[in-house]
Amino acid sequence: MNAEKTPGSPAAILGEGQLDPDALETVLAAPESRFRHDYLEIRDLRVSFDGFVAVDGVDLTVTQGDLRFLIGPNGAGKTTIVDAITGLAAATGSVRFGGVDLLGKPSHRIARAGVGRTFQTASVFDELTVLQNLDIAAGAGRGMRTLLRRRSGVPDDVAAAMETVGLTHLAATPAGILAHGQKQWLEIGMLLVQDAHLLLLDEPVAGMSQAEREETGQLLQRIGEQRTVVVVEHDMEFLRSFASSVTVLHQGRVLSEGTVAEVQADPRVVEVYLGSGSARAGSSGSSKEA
Ligand SMILES: Nc1ncnc2c1ncn2[C@@H]1O[C@H](COP(=O)(O)OP(=O)(O)O)[C@@H](O)[C@H]1O
Ligand SMILES: [Mg+2]
Repeated sequence: MNAEKTPGSPAAILGEGQLDPDALETVLAAPESRFRHDYLEIRDLRVSFDGFVAVDGVDLTVTQGDLRFLIGPNGAGKTTIVDAITGLAAATGSVRFGGVDLLGKPSHRIARAGVGRTFQTASVFDELTVLQNLDIAAGAGRGMRTLLRRRSGVPDDVAAAMETVGLTHLAATPAGILAHGQKQWLEIGMLLVQDAHLLLLDEPVAGMSQAEREETGQLLQRIGEQRTVVVVEHDMEFLRSFASSVTVLHQGRVLSEGTVAEVQADPRVVEVYLGSGSARAGSSGSSKEA
């Protein structure tokens, strides 16, 4: 290659001895790799099931450091949005995270792009210990035999995740006998060792005790400082305590968005949550709720 001081090149612009063009390139390239600011950007997302439109043109932007709650009545489309982001439901529109286009990619590629989710029912291996569950989540490259063999050392990332979710003292406990809340924390830990930078949590505190909710909220706030976190939730008290912003969905559309206070003061939200549709003109009888 003969890239030496062609007119207009960094070397020609800066002149001799002022700044190394290679160094300049390194600096210019840095924001991509070192200072990347991940965020989730959803535009005009649509999902339909046999003609029934479950998600109807949703726009959603969630930045790192934001703890976004997604709320709405049953059937509003919350889980379907998470499914669409993670490749489990076919959708149109666009979903980008960290500059990567996710829509249309298979689930494993989406996971590799740093996107992780939990389900409404925890999906951990009951017979395996906390440590083994985390090991398996971390060890895409390691063989199953190695994973199941008793081990002396715990990898740093696994130890850190276990500490973050508060399960270090239960490392050797089979996941099956964990309390409900602890299972959810284990699942979150599994996302952390997979290095998920976008965490989508579907009703993580459902069925939890008050004390577990409190701990979960604090855990999510800690995680949310470094990562992008979206929490689907019903519990209004939990929302008031921990959400930094809220998106309210209704019938597949964004009804309202803002801080907890803003959303609570929105008459449309009050109507959807308190009116049970009774005061609405649109009694089309199209409710698909169970
Ligand atoms: N696989 C599916 N097939 C058909 N309809 C579905 C499917 N998944 C969800 N729906 C419908 O889409 C709507 C949104 O569902 P969902 O996203 O689960 O709501 P939410 O999580 O907000 O309670 C509901 O009316 C539901 O019945
Ligand atoms: Mg749901």
